Amino acid sequence: PEISLVPPLYLKTKYNPAAGWAVNYSPSHICALKDSSVIMNCTYTYPTGYQIMKVFWTKKLFKEEHEVFPDLSKDPEYSHRLQYLGDKQKNCTIRLSHVTQKDSHKYYFRFITDKHSKKQTGASGVTLTVTDLQVEAPERVTEGDSVRLTCKSSCALTDRATFIWYRNSQPLTERRDRNNQLLLQSVRREDAGRYSCALHGHTYISPAVYLSVMYPPKSVSVSISPSGEIVEGDSVTLSCNYSGEYKCKSRNKHGEKHSDAVTLNITYPPKNTSVSISPSGEIVEGDSVTLSCSSDSNPPAEISWFKEGTFLGSGRIYNISKISSDYSGEYKCKSRNKHGEKDSDAVMLSVMCK
Ligand SMILES: *[C@@H]1O[C@H](CO)[C@@H](O)[C@H](O)[C@H]1NC(C)=O
Repeated sequence: PEISLVPPLYLKTKYNPAAGWAVNYSPSHICALKDSSVIMNCTYTYPTGYQIMKVFWTKKLFKEEHEVFPDLSKDPEYSHRLQYLGDKQKNCTIRLSHVTQKDSHKYYFRFITDKHSKKQTGASGVTLTVTDLQVEAPERVTEGDSVRLTCKSSCALTDRATFIWYRNSQPLTERRDRNNQLLLQSVRREDAGRYSCALHGHTYISPAVYLSVMYPPKSVSVSISPSGEIVEGDSVTLSCNYSGEYKCKSRNKHGEKHSDAVTLNITYPPKNTSVSISPSGEIVEGDSVTLSCSSDSNPPAEISWFKEGTFLGSGRIYNISKISSDYSGEYKCKSRNKHGEKDSDAVMLSVMCK
């Protein structure tokens, strides 16, 4: 780390570009997607007659004299990801790659000249905010509805790239859009599935959200057995190929009458069991974390939670308030009704130390 005297020029209020000392950042706010590379554009000027001895970026800006300005390129959290693209004359641009939410911070460029105490920090700095993506979708829709899915980020992305949508991990090529929304004009039952979104040219993909599409019965058919002549006293079976509510209607030339409805309830074992973790980004000790289990079954399933095979508890939602690193590991939920059971895939929860 550099021990340096902070010059009077250091505070923005006392900063005098007319004297030829300046650092400009453009843009001064960057909203970047998790895992991406960020370019922080920067230029600097100084009066003639000075020679630049050292240039570096730092995360701290001190108000005290005789302070230490830690050089980011010496910080193990940054050194392998930080590349100085500028020069020792006027360009102080850097690239930071594989950004994570932990990199959300203000960054400053600092340079040191050959003349004693002529050092300068660009006090305005660049603010970096790193975001992930979340799909917002209605949980249930009915066939024929118009459905809008939104790919949300916590800040307006600086890189205005194209959004890509996936259903069940397959890209929906026909629906690339500059806009962060996916519009399903008249939703079909085949549109049900797990939706996620990403930015074109980026590796990060949002967690998936399940969209279920409900639909009315279609092509109902009824059969009577035995077919042919039925004699008084025979047993007759009427069968219908669909679930739901049934009525019979009897009619003669004098009129018709409906029976009361009977409900046919088709039960099935759990399917599509999956776990989602909220928040989806990096989880730090002390955070509140919610694990949710979703599954499709009739009758509704009972859910139980397991961490590496050890039973944790029951219920669709498993809440952990004030998480600690002991909670890191693989989680699964099991959904069970009287017809069967289905385990979710294991999901990894990693808790970062503070
Ligand atoms: C600074 O250097 C970067 C990387 O070489 C370059 O892309 C950028 O255009 C330069 N900026 C100026 C103002 O010269």
